[in-house]
Amino acid sequence: MSRPTESIHGQWASRWTFILAATGSAVGLGNIWKFPYIAGENGGGAFVLVYLLCIAVIGLPLMMAEIMIGRRGRQNPVNTLRTLAKEENKSSSWAAAGWIAIVAGFIILSYYSVIAGQAMAYVFRSFANVFEGVTAEGAHHIYLSLTHDPERLLAWHTVFMVLTMVVVARGVKSGIEKFVKFVMPALFAILLLLVGYAANTGVYFSEGVHFLFTPDFSKLTTNSVLVAMGHAFFTLSLAMGAIMVYGAYLSKNTSIFKVSMWIAIADTTVALLAGLAIFPLVFANELTPSMGPGLIFETLPIAFGHMAGGALFGGLFFLLLVFAAWSSAISIIEPLISWLVENKKISRRRASVTAGFGIWLLGLLTVFSFNIGENWLLFGKTMFELLDYITANIMLPLGGLLTAIFAGWIMSKNNSTDELGIRVPLFNSLWRILIRYITPLGIIIVFLSVIGILG
Ligand code: PFF
Repeated sequence: MSRPTESIHGQWASRWTFILAATGSAVGLGNIWKFPYIAGENGGGAFVLVYLLCIAVIGLPLMMAEIMIGRRGRQNPVNTLRTLAKEENKSSSWAAAGWIAIVAGFIILSYYSVIAGQAMAYVFRSFANVFEGVTAEGAHHIYLSLTHDPERLLAWHTVFMVLTMVVVARGVKSGIEKFVKFVMPALFAILLLLVGYAANTGVYFSEGVHFLFTPDFSKLTTNSVLVAMGHAFFTLSLAMGAIMVYGAYLSKNTSIFKVSMWIAIADTTVALLAGLAIFPLVFANELTPSMGPGLIFETLPIAFGHMAGGALFGGLFFLLLVFAAWSSAISIIEPLISWLVENKKISRRRASVTAGFGIWLLGLLTVFSFNIGENWLLFGKTMFELLDYITANIMLPLGGLLTAIFAGWIMSKNNSTDELGIRVPLFNSLWRILIRYITPLGIIIVFLSVIGILG
């Protein structure tokens, strides 16, 4: 089977639009609530150092591999892997790795959309000044009034899915590209505004900086290293076919190394800025950085409710979260859309409606996990927790491992070198060592630890 020279879905106008789109994919819920919290809890600056190392050693080589594979195959992940495997005279069952990515994306978007829907509800609550003077109990009550109401949660989930499908249905050029050109600068502007707002808290800003950046190696455990590795993976949107399919729309004469560097730097910067925006507010209100969605939906509203301009800045904060989740959501669904269009020969619009409806339907399990289905447990987990566990801890590491093996061992050195186009031989060898040995080893360690065999 010969390789197509261009994707049927179009091509990014420039490498900058690709960088914007891929950064849009990378910057998501993972950067804005998860990173600041895990960094703080795992030794601040020491953790940040380890995390940067993980981005460089595991994240960057894998991202380069995904873009390289995507651009060489120029199709959806399933067809791309099948075509490239044939080119190397290897088994076409490598296409199965593409399927893992597509199915993982399908499941992840089903719950990502429900959480993003909660953020949308909070945009309106915040602008309407609902949090003014709120107590911890009050904030908890407001959160429960949303999550315990299946109809409301369902309505917001539906709105978010429709918004996602509207962008994807319009295609790569007039949908995704136009969207990220508008949303990404807005996202950065809001983030900077929020950091400026936090900087006005004076001493608490220094406390936030201290919390996030002062290396405390005594808090760094083996587990924190594993957390850093796992997060490096998720935050760069790897192993879900998202970056691979975006790579399929990238021009041949773009340096894969340079664009990958830009994406990794932008993603890390956003995560650090999010920490600088959040922690000073938490400390200024004598709150403690609590875990998970609680920090965003219960602790922060208390801070906004007690600060000057809190309604406005709180609303902007949740808008930032919605933008970040939205630009990630369109990339999670794109591999499936491109598969439907290429293999089922249906229009993009029909593909979007079909895929969107399927994901929306699966999302009902997550919607009900917060209320009427709270007690529908399987292996001691709610449906939402189970879907999250299976995808994040099993499917993503597996998909990532297969991608690394494919790029490092299945593709010939000539073909990968040709596609990557790294001119310095030393860098090329370095990438090959990382992708063949270090990246797979890192993933295996994370995988064994999350399933409880190690650590
Ligand atoms: N990188 C996103 C985040 O940090 O929230 C999550 C994500 C988006 C993962 C898209 C995978 C993906 F394909």
